[in-house]
This record gives sequence, structure tokens and C-alpha cells, in this order.
Amino acid sequence: MKPSTGRWVSGDDFFDRETELQLLESRVRDGNHVLLTGQRRMGKTSIARELGRRLETQGWVFLFTDVEGAASERDVIAGLARALQPARPILSRFAGKMKHWFGEQSEKVDEMSALTFRLKTRAGVGGGNWRYRGGQFFDACTAHDQPVLIVIDELPIFLAKLLRDEDGPRRVDDFLSWLRGMLQGPRGSSPVLIASGSIGLAPLVRRLGIPDRINHLYPFRLGPWTREISVECFERLAKDNGLQSANGVADAVYEALGTGIPHYVQSFFAHLQELAAERNQSLVTMQDVDEVYRTVLLGSSEDNDLFHYQTRLKEGLNDENSYTIALEILAETATQGTFTPEARRCLARLYSPDERNVPGRIADVLDVLIHDGYLQDGENGYHFPFRLLRDWWSNRFRDQHTSLAQRSADEDGGLQ
Ligand SMILES: Nc1ncnc2c1ncn2[C@@H]1O[C@H](COP(=O)(O)OP(=O)(O)OP(=O)(O)O)[C@@H](O)[C@H]1O
Ligand SMILES: [Mg+2]
Repeated sequence: MKPSTGRWVSGDDFFDRETELQLLESRVRDGNHVLLTGQRRMGKTSIARELGRRLETQGWVFLFTDVEGAASERDVIAGLARALQPARPILSRFAGKMKHWFGEQSEKVDEMSALTFRLKTRAGVGGGNWRYRGGQFFDACTAHDQPVLIVIDELPIFLAKLLRDEDGPRRVDDFLSWLRGMLQGPRGSSPVLIASGSIGLAPLVRRLGIPDRINHLYPFRLGPWTREISVECFERLAKDNGLQSANGVADAVYEALGTGIPHYVQSFFAHLQELAAERNQSLVTMQDVDEVYRTVLLGSSEDNDLFHYQTRLKEGLNDENSYTIALEILAETATQGTFTPEARRCLARLYSPDERNVPGRIADVLDVLIHDGYLQDGENGYHFPFRLLRDWWSNRFRDQHTSLAQRSADEDGGLQ
């Protein structure tokens, strides 16, 4: 097993997740469509791809598209069409219906370079006719004699973006209604869909008042590895990569993270490996764990991937005011340890003069923060389950944040 700190992993680099894979596979084999959610970097893309890889060895066709960069419905359909390139028989059927699209070259579609194919598919799905082209894509999959699994990764990010466009709520509604229509053929005949992403699709459709648009998707939440699996993964990485670790190191890594998010277990390992290499050592110690945690993982360099948590937060919330409230809640929780009911009342009071229904907005924001894994409900309020994130957030915001109770008291003082 090689360490990986960037993209998704599969095959020999994919560790455990056996229970989750079994469950997902049985849902898919039963013809259920799935909404795969989970916190950032939890391994959603990896598990979806690993499932696809395994199913391919058993006669399935696996089509994968990532729609994070899609700007319109048309881009999503073009992405799906592009996923067909390795699936020759479906591709030929699909291209055969679009002679005008591929022109003279429609017979040679499987010989086209990836770039030509990409340009042609995008041009072929003209702005207005994405529904029609998308319908042809699903027809081609349905007519195929092997079962087909389609993964649309980062669908919620695309929809959140679409929502901000002109006429956004109607377009999101139209797109989801259309997709549902495409998937409602008799079980076993139409392709199976896994829609995945780390920002919440459920909170988004609830906010729009259209929760039923996704009720054909079976919710599947990918959680963190347990302490035991995280330790096993760390030890496997050490063994396979010739690094010795002192007693208790793997457990200390889990303890420092506070949770078993696969990416951070991997990232911790990679940094310890780097430190050992720099010092020409083959053994990592408890002091090394502490040093890497403080100086590297908590480091404030711009390429620190915890920034991701701040930037993606914006995508999950639909406006600036909600984003401001979210930053307040997270700074409060990180610096005070808990976001208490008292702090929540103070926050509502502080923002109420400028805005109506602040308690409603705070409830919506908390809904997203919990769904997306930033906070967890606990005794006397909310806290960060992910200790590294809490420490990073606290380092970043503590100089700009005064506790809500203090600000509320200052405001009362000012009014008297
Ligand atoms: N099963 C696994 N075995 C080993 N490492 C894993 C596994 N799953 C995830 N990882 C690690 O986590 C990283 C992120 O994985 P992946 O991209 O699949 O997560 P994601 O949930 O899709 O992330 P994002 O929220 O950014 O889309 C990988 O580069 C790898 O280091
Ligand atoms: Mg992903």
C-alpha cells in the first residue's frame, strides 16, 4: 500500500471499508439509487470508484463523472457523455443517434482523441436541449445488455452553484425532477445512480421546499474510520513503506486527529515519513508526532488543505449572511470549546437589529455545519469532533474573535 495524500485511491491502495462496500454493493445490486454523503476527505470518491472497479470485474459497466466544475445542466450531460468513452457499445449506440453531432465521424467515435471527444460532446449538448440529449444518454444505458452504474460526484456543489444563477431555484427543481424521471424505469432495466458529495443535498432541497425531489435516493453516509481501523491503516502504511514506529505512535496519531478521516491519517503518515527521511531516520517517535502536528498539520501555509474547510463552507451556504453566521459559530466553538445555548442566544441578539428571523438562519446554518461534519451535537451545545480542525480554526480566528457572551455584555453596557 502506497501513501496517498491527493486524489482518490483504489485497488491495492484502498484500505478497508469492507462493511460499507458490502452495504453499498447490495443497495446497487437491488437497483436502489444512492445519495452518498460524508464529510470532506472521508473517501467518498474512492469508495464509489472502488465499488465501480469491483463491479466492472463482475460484468457491470461503470460510468463516472465529476461535476464540481460544471457551470450548467449542459455541462453535466456532456460530462456523462464523456464518461461513455471507455464504454464502447453504449457509446456507439448513443453516438449513432447523433449523426449530426459527430458528423461524418460518428462511426469512428471510439477512435477519437479524448480532447476531440470532449469538445464535440460539449458542442453537441446545446444549451437548450440538455433534457433531450440527457434522455438519449439514459436510453442508451437502458438499452445496453449489461447492468450500468453511474456515479455523479459532487452533484450538490453543482446544484448549489446553479441555485445562485438566474432563475436558480426553478432550474434546480427542473434538473432534479428530470433526473428522477430518468431513473424511474422498472427495477433492473434502468441504470443505477450514485450521487455523491460532501455538501448537503438534503439541506439544500429542504431550504427550497422540494425535499421529495431526492426521495428516490437512498441516503448513505460515509463515516470516519474507527480508532482500530485508523491504527491498522497507519501500521500497514508503515510496514509497506519501511518505516518503523515506536510503541503508541499510531494511536497517538488517531488521538491527535480526534477522528479517523482517511485523508488525515494518510497525510499524518506522509509527513512523518518525510520528517524521518530528512533526518535520515527509520523510526518515528511520539515527539515526532507532536512536532508534525504542531508545525506541519497546524501550519498556516496557504497550501494547508484545511483551508478547504473554509472555502467549501461558502459553497454549502446560499448567501453571505449565512456564511458570516457560520464563521461566527465556528470561531466561537473553536475558541470556547463549545457553542452553548447561551452563546446561541447572544448571537441571535447581536445580529437581530440588522436582520429578521436570525434564530431561523442560525438553525439553518447549524443544520449545514452538522451535516457537513464541522460540528457535532453534544452535552451543553455543539463541538468540533475533528480536533485538528478545531485547533486550526482556533489558531486562525482567535485574534479576531471575542466570545459572544462578552460582546453581548459589552453591547448591554454600551446601551445603558
Ligand atoms: N479507503 C481508503 N484507503 C486509504 N486511503 C483512503 C481511503 N479513502 C480515502 N483515503 C484517503 O483520503 C484521500 C481523499 O479521498 P477521496 O478523494 O476519495 O475523498 P472524498 O471524500 O471524495 O474527498 P472530497 O471531499 O475532497 O471530495 C485520499 O487521497 C486518500 O489519501
Ligand atoms: Mg471526492
